[in-house]
Amino acid sequence: RTVRVLGVPMDLGADRRGVDMGPSAIRYGGLAEQLDGLGVDCTDGGDLAVPRPEARDPDADHPRGGRAKFHRETREVCEDVRTAVSGTIDDGEFPLVLGGDHSIAIGTVAGAAEPDESLGVVWFDAHGDFNTPQTTPSGNIHGMSLAAILGKESFADESWAHTPAVSEENVVLVGLRNLDEGERRLIRESDVTAYSMSDVDARSVPEVVEEALGIAADGTDAIHVSLDMDWLDPTEAPGVGTPVRGGVSYREAHVAMEYVAERHDKLRSMELVEVNPILDDHNQTAELACELAASAFGKRIL
Ligand code: ARG
Ligand code: MN
Ligand code: MN
Ligand code: MN
Repeated sequence: RTVRVLGVPMDLGADRRGVDMGPSAIRYGGLAEQLDGLGVDCTDGGDLAVPRPEARDPDADHPRGGRAKFHRETREVCEDVRTAVSGTIDDGEFPLVLGGDHSIAIGTVAGAAEPDESLGVVWFDAHGDFNTPQTTPSGNIHGMSLAAILGKESFADESWAHTPAVSEENVVLVGLRNLDEGERRLIRESDVTAYSMSDVDARSVPEVVEEALGIAADGTDAIHVSLDMDWLDPTEAPGVGTPVRGGVSYREAHVAMEYVAERHDKLRSMELVEVNPILDDHNQTAELACELAASAFGKRIL
């Protein structure tokens, strides 16, 4: 299969500037070489255009009854991401989307969801990204993207964000360790499956990830994998905007991606987000993102 890399230098959804350089850092980290080495054809669709925050007013357009910074610009970028991702799939290629902050997942998932089909989602993250414009403590859309996809609270009325092809029963969060009060309530009230790091501790990464993939694949036509690099422990992935201690190790992350690779028949799209080279240590986090992509596309030690 041919992988098409799509860069989205998006930083409108997060506070810490620098995540817009993620796509460059990941390419520089050897993504194409890693995939070529596996015999996976890799084409590069370039980067989408993203407006610079300095040129815009974050508060120009908030959703009614809530707060979401750069709401209009995020919608515009996500509509472009959606078009690029669905066009890639229509061309028979596999979209590998490079962020940028996690708000871009709204567009990736919308593009991966074909009409009249169902899509499961596995969301590897320290955070729930389940805030809404009503619950958000920060106003940052990267902390709301999963709630947007599922049409929570005022997102229900926003057709650019809400993707009905994704049903909660087939959405799985893995690796949680930092939730805000409002999003915790929304997660608990929802039908998504959420595995915290405590679940990972009590069981194991292979067991939890295998179960997560099974839930996402159960009765669906395809699955999308969203990998927020802050899922990993900051000792392995320091180059992220919102690091949280207590994440998975280097080996655990690879094992998880090896399980993803085993679902290649159902895997439709993948994204690597939140790499921030300004905060990184010698591009270590970007290089790790490339290695993890290779594992997800079938790289094995032996
Ligand atoms: N929960 C916090 C917020 O809503 C942090 C979200 C971090 N999200 C991320 N994709 N890194 O602002
Ligand atoms: Mn299509
Ligand atoms: Mn996160
Ligand atoms: Mn995230």
